[in-house]
Amino acid sequence: MLDKIQSLIDEVKALQAKTAEDAESLRIKYLSKKGAISALFDDFKQVAPEMKKEVGMRLNELKTVATEKINSLKESFAEQQNGATGADLSLPGTSYVCGGRHPLSVVKNDIIEIFGRLGFTVAEGPEVEDDYHVFTALNFPLEHPARDMQDTFFINTNPDILLRTHTSSVQVRVMEKQKPPIRAVFPGRVFRNEAISARAHCIFHQVEGLYVAKNVSFADLKQTLLYFAKEMFGPDTQIRLRPSYFPFTEPSAEMDVSCSLCGGKGCSVCKGTGWLEILGCGMVDPAVLEANGIDSKEYSGFAFGMGVERIAMLRYQVKDIRLFFENDVRFLQQFKSAY
Ligand code: PHE
Repeated sequence: MLDKIQSLIDEVKALQAKTAEDAESLRIKYLSKKGAISALFDDFKQVAPEMKKEVGMRLNELKTVATEKINSLKESFAEQQNGATGADLSLPGTSYVCGGRHPLSVVKNDIIEIFGRLGFTVAEGPEVEDDYHVFTALNFPLEHPARDMQDTFFINTNPDILLRTHTSSVQVRVMEKQKPPIRAVFPGRVFRNEAISARAHCIFHQVEGLYVAKNVSFADLKQTLLYFAKEMFGPDTQIRLRPSYFPFTEPSAEMDVSCSLCGGKGCSVCKGTGWLEILGCGMVDPAVLEANGIDSKEYSGFAFGMGVERIAMLRYQVKDIRLFFENDVRFLQQFKSAY
């Protein structure tokens, strides 16, 4: 019996298989219930008691050797078979079409981030507003012609409920709730009843800012906006402030930045002037502070407001504002790498 076991061990160690089927038939031949090794285990019953220990050990050795050998043969075929499915693992995988941020979101987030570095927080307010927050509290008296500056979409009259024409309404909501110092920007969608063209849309986005504290001066406003312009359009950017009019600021100004395309020499984008208008600003009118419960003898402030589309058009040289709203993927895909 011991000889038989030894010769089987030698036999098993030398086993070869050409195919997976060969390996399986070897398993049947040696390891199945009717296989050669099982037959030896059956014979084990007849072994003399004094031999049982040694024969048993050898039998177990045979079984282990056979199992390991046949398993390793099988595994080698399993590996080959994976390769045989034809999968070329060096090929690139299926790519999925991913979205990207909308260019207006990219620009809006940049604006918020730049002012964030100066300590401005973010506040939002409703798009459907009442007359008080959009006009009255901002020093637009009833029947004041300045109301015509912004053609308003009314949802209801008396009481007047309307789509906000600027995010200055959020200035009012913040001043109502918060005591100075206030330092916040207000991003959001605004609506004006304007004919849609390459340059104007009835829906657009603004980011406004408000800073109210003690001793805030026009110099602070200029320095803040200069910092913003350089961060947004590059370190060589210059700004210029032209006198303007808004009912809620006094004095008021419009700010131009030097044209980043021609470096101020004059080109078709800046229409030969070297300057691009980007925002309105001014010192908050004391009447607006008072209307919102802030003592204008103790506090002063500045405000500014800019159109996100305008900045995005300048930054990416988009010639038609309507492209931002059509959501044609061929247009949007160009901004995928922006963020
Ligand atoms: N609200 C003004 C507009 O929409 C912009 C502005 C904001 C001007 C703040 C001055 C101060 O045109």
